[in-house]
Amino acid sequence: MSENKPAAIYLKDYRVPDFLIDRTELVFDLDDSVTVVTSKLHMRRNPSAGRITTPLVLDGGEDVKLIGVAIDNYTLPAEEYHINAEHQLVITATPDQFLLTVETVIEPQNNTRLEGLYRSSGMFCTQCEAEGFRHITYYLDRPDVMSIFTTTLIADGEKYPTLLSNGNEVERGVSDEGKTIVTWHDPHPKPAYLFALVAGNLQHISDTFTTSSGRDVTLKIFTEPHNIDKVDYAMGALKRSMKWDEDVYGREYDLDIFMIVAVDDFNMGAMENKGLNIFNSSCLLARPDTTTDDAYLRIEAIVAHEYFHNWSGNRVTCRDWFQLSLKEGFTVFRDQSFSEDLHSETVKRVEDVSFLRTAQFAEDAGPMAHPIRPASYIEISNFYTLTVYEKGSEVVRMIHTLLGAEGFRKGSDLYFSRHDGQAVTCDDFVKAMEDANGVDLTQFKRWYSQAGTPRVQVTDEYDEQAQTYTLNFSQMTPATPGQPTKLPVVIPVKMGLIGQDGSSLRFNLAGETTTETVITLTQGEESVVFEQVAERPVPSLLRGFSAPVKLSYDYTTEQLALLLAHDSDGFNRWNSGQQIAVNELQALIAQVQSGESLNQESALVSGFSQLLADEQLDSAMVALILTLPSVAYLSELAEQIDPQAIKTARDHLKGQIAKALSESFASTYERLNVQEAYQPNEAQIARRALKNVALSYWVASGDEQAQQALVNQFRNADNMTDQYAALATAVDQDLEVADELLASFYEQWQQESLVVNKWLTLSASQTSAEGLGRIERLMQHPSFDLKNPNKLRAVFAGLTQNVTLFHDASGAGYRFLADQIAVLDKRNPQIASRLCTPLTRWRKMVPSLSDPMKSALQQLAAGDLSKDVYEVVSKSLA
Ligand code: ARG
Ligand code: ZN
Repeated sequence: MSENKPAAIYLKDYRVPDFLIDRTELVFDLDDSVTVVTSKLHMRRNPSAGRITTPLVLDGGEDVKLIGVAIDNYTLPAEEYHINAEHQLVITATPDQFLLTVETVIEPQNNTRLEGLYRSSGMFCTQCEAEGFRHITYYLDRPDVMSIFTTTLIADGEKYPTLLSNGNEVERGVSDEGKTIVTWHDPHPKPAYLFALVAGNLQHISDTFTTSSGRDVTLKIFTEPHNIDKVDYAMGALKRSMKWDEDVYGREYDLDIFMIVAVDDFNMGAMENKGLNIFNSSCLLARPDTTTDDAYLRIEAIVAHEYFHNWSGNRVTCRDWFQLSLKEGFTVFRDQSFSEDLHSETVKRVEDVSFLRTAQFAEDAGPMAHPIRPASYIEISNFYTLTVYEKGSEVVRMIHTLLGAEGFRKGSDLYFSRHDGQAVTCDDFVKAMEDANGVDLTQFKRWYSQAGTPRVQVTDEYDEQAQTYTLNFSQMTPATPGQPTKLPVVIPVKMGLIGQDGSSLRFNLAGETTTETVITLTQGEESVVFEQVAERPVPSLLRGFSAPVKLSYDYTTEQLALLLAHDSDGFNRWNSGQQIAVNELQALIAQVQSGESLNQESALVSGFSQLLADEQLDSAMVALILTLPSVAYLSELAEQIDPQAIKTARDHLKGQIAKALSESFASTYERLNVQEAYQPNEAQIARRALKNVALSYWVASGDEQAQQALVNQFRNADNMTDQYAALATAVDQDLEVADELLASFYEQWQQESLVVNKWLTLSASQTSAEGLGRIERLMQHPSFDLKNPNKLRAVFAGLTQNVTLFHDASGAGYRFLADQIAVLDKRNPQIASRLCTPLTRWRKMVPSLSDPMKSALQQLAAGDLSKDVYEVVSKSLA
């Protein structure tokens, strides 16, 4: 481990800033070798800091070269300032109010961390959240310092005709040397993490949106010229988002122009910089022949997410980074609700919950477990997590469930009006919800401070004489690192009762007769008695997944089948089918592990057969129900993870269902395999989803004709959804033709970088004789680019999904990943740190894999690490 162990930062140590920056004037002289940044900060001491003799300490980075500092018109001599070990600029004495001028030089072309100002395929761009701005110039780089920015860009107008920053363009001219000069002004005070600039040779499309109060807003989306044919869908998504935020939250856009720029090299998905969102091109560009249905929906959701941040994040921002979920949890909830409103609510909910239960629950059960508002961190970039985002959204959703849509809207209105222009905390958000509704959410707030996934156990009794039905609940949250004991949390359980014939039973609760209710759990143990229940019911619990918990009730397979067929709640219909599959798969996994021959009975056969026969059902829901729980989800559920046994069991069950229902899958496929002009709309997406699930089962049945259908679909598809589905099934089912199809896919799409990423993932996930040599070859392939996070993610996603290769008992897969992380950490610590995730699971692996996985981590720990990787590795080994 590196000698200087990076220190943790604690929420309890928060102090208001000693200085404020009222106005920030930046001048960037952009050049291919060096970029000169001149910063003029209109500063004063913060009256509420109460400390009057502190030095001025500005954040900086090791990659920022200081040229000179002046206060007002006085150039500081060297003895009046210094750079400390944390790369901060320390100025010993300042007046109470002053103009600070700082000149720095940076080299964006050598910035491989992709934080601050960097180059991505010929353009300059920025990423400042969370702490990137300090890699541009010295600043109070913390979200509670909000300033009005004016930004001037100077660049060669031939090479960089497009020069953008936040706000409105206010001036344009030509310098003495003939360079183009453009000035932007953003009237809204903002923290430095929302600053952005872009310089490049870009094309754009334009549109307008008229706000509810009648103002016209200009909308522009910029890309490199060769991608300009892929931005129309994002423009539509932007307009839908603007309208939805007006309709549902009463939030209007507040500048005259809104811009989005696509860049190829980007650490995350996208960034909500004020008036100038910057997107990973993978989250923006769409065209039917290159983009799958899933990607279309994801692009729409991310465009919405970043746009929604304009209020939940920008107008009202975070006081400090411990409050990250204040903006991210809330904004994820907003984008999820948007997608639910525009498309199928149940389908969207199933997808979001699947993701949460697979990935966030795993995080909550591992060494990096943290509350949605962490109490400490070493590197904030490590806390852009599934917990802060997805569980954070679930916590906001629970408030919505507890208060109802109207109460929630009253709360959000109060939150936005009370805190407009401020940097606030999660407590402020909850307080607004409380005040607007006259409720007390004190206990509820434990969701913000306790990590771990609560478990809820449910038992029941039915009294036929009295016609009463009792549900007994007990809850407990398992210990997580640093939190050995937990208190009971508030858990809203939306539920109903189902009769033997599948109907929704009426019941009386607290004097009210109804068929659905929300029970709010608050105690370790409690019981609820339902009256006037006509027969022994099957309980339908946690409808719509009303709380992020693991709820268990001992259902029989027959009861689950009843819910699957009849529950009025679509989410629980799906969930009941999944539960049947999970039960069967867990039994099969045990059989694989003990070397028994595998069971040949499955309750799913008759259930699926009925689903396939009923053409009236929503195809999208049928496709979801037919999809067996993933290896990743089964791993999360396992006490000890045995990836190979899980995969063997899953392949077995899939093959068994496929063989039993081969004809139904064939006819479903034929029925849905129709030609129509591609549209990413509800009906078509649903049809393609079911068609392609049917194809994968039909192929898994071993039917020769299915293979022929797959090859035909691959060759004749006019859209990426169908072409990719055929290819992915060929690879997944290890068909002989897979190599040939992969080669032809690359041949066809080698010019389309985003499609090549799909090829990289599938190639890396393919079972092959080459072993890890295959991964090495992919990383040497001309299409691979170490600078590009999408390429790295593509290859490593393929590798880590490749059960046979990655989880080889020799530990070679784990060592390979550790070696790559160590190399990458020198270039891009954020990406290196994210790649560590699979290795953090070592304690949950079966003993034969646990040891080699742990050694791979120890091998990493022995090297000289960034703060990012150090934090993950040291916490994993602790
Ligand atoms: N705020 C961005 C979002 O929309 C995420 C940016 C995070 N960037 C980072 N380097 N950690 O969710
Ligand atoms: Zn966000």
